[in-house]
Amino acid sequence: MPLLQITDLVKSYPAPGGGVHQVVNVPAFALGAGEQLALRGESGSGKTTFLNLIAGILAADSGSIQLAGQELTSLGEARRDRLRAGSIGYIFQTFNLLQGHTVLENVLLGMAFGPGADRARAAALLQRMGLAGKHDHYPRQLSTGQQQRVAVARALANQPKLVLADEPTGNLDRRNAREALQLIRETCRETGAALLLVSHDERVLAQFEHMQDFTHFNRAPTGATATEAPAASEGQTSQTDASKPTPATAVARSAGVTPNAAPCQSTRLPSARCDTATPFGRPVEPEV
Ligand SMILES: Nc1ncnc2c1ncn2[C@@H]1O[C@H](COP(=O)(O)OP(=O)(O)O)[C@@H](O)[C@H]1O
Ligand SMILES: [Mg+2]
Repeated sequence: MPLLQITDLVKSYPAPGGGVHQVVNVPAFALGAGEQLALRGESGSGKTTFLNLIAGILAADSGSIQLAGQELTSLGEARRDRLRAGSIGYIFQTFNLLQGHTVLENVLLGMAFGPGADRARAAALLQRMGLAGKHDHYPRQLSTGQQQRVAVARALANQPKLVLADEPTGNLDRRNAREALQLIRETCRETGAALLLVSHDERVLAQFEHMQDFTHFNRAPTGATATEAPAASEGQTSQTDASKPTPATAVARSAGVTPNAAPCQSTRLPSARCDTATPFGRPVEPEV
């Protein structure tokens, strides 16, 4: 059985004028353990929504997502968050680093919501990323290329089975983009993680032996329709749609944090706070 198996996955958003706007309709998709696949898709084609469904950040309307044999769609939000913390690494285009925390803390926080903070592993990862001397720097003290490498280290912190990368080089210049992509691919190979990357950048897509057109297996109608919701720009929050994860909630949830659950009980970092609280938080779900 593949690492990731998706069947009849459907996700729609409410359209502003009433009705719904279907964004994802994937009858079948699979990714093997350790496999690396790039998905090509134009802006607005539903790539981020697809990754957020796989990561459990968004709930599907219907269909099945199995990760390592476990059905994600039948889990409540809290359990999806925990599964993600332990099994999935997420690399965002906008990095989504916690600005109030140092480089080392960003990686340790990623671990704290999975198997637990492991300083030796965090240090080894940062060294692998060429950031050995930057542990105590804050994200704003780093170049964009270095910030993305911290985000890669954080995504790999919990030895995930699957790494999702959403336009991970979109904010980098050409040289940094090439280096970051190489690093992501190499470190996934070294750790045995599968990699699913989405992009519209042909230079990025051309690096992959395996590339698929997202629109080939996504049957949701493409292009603007009369009922289509306007796209919120990348990394920004739509004021009118509380269901869309903000960058802060997305990173918190990628790390397995429940937004608004400050202070973080599960971290061993003395200074750690959930500075990710947002008005979009949700109550912690009871275990199912
Ligand atoms: N929370 C939301 N509410 C309504 N429409 C949304 C929401 N999130 C995304 N969309 C719409 O879904 C479509 C796909 O968005 P997205 O998954 O971000 O595409 P991509 O990542 O390929 O650019 C776009 O038309 C966008 O406007
Ligand atoms: Mg996107």
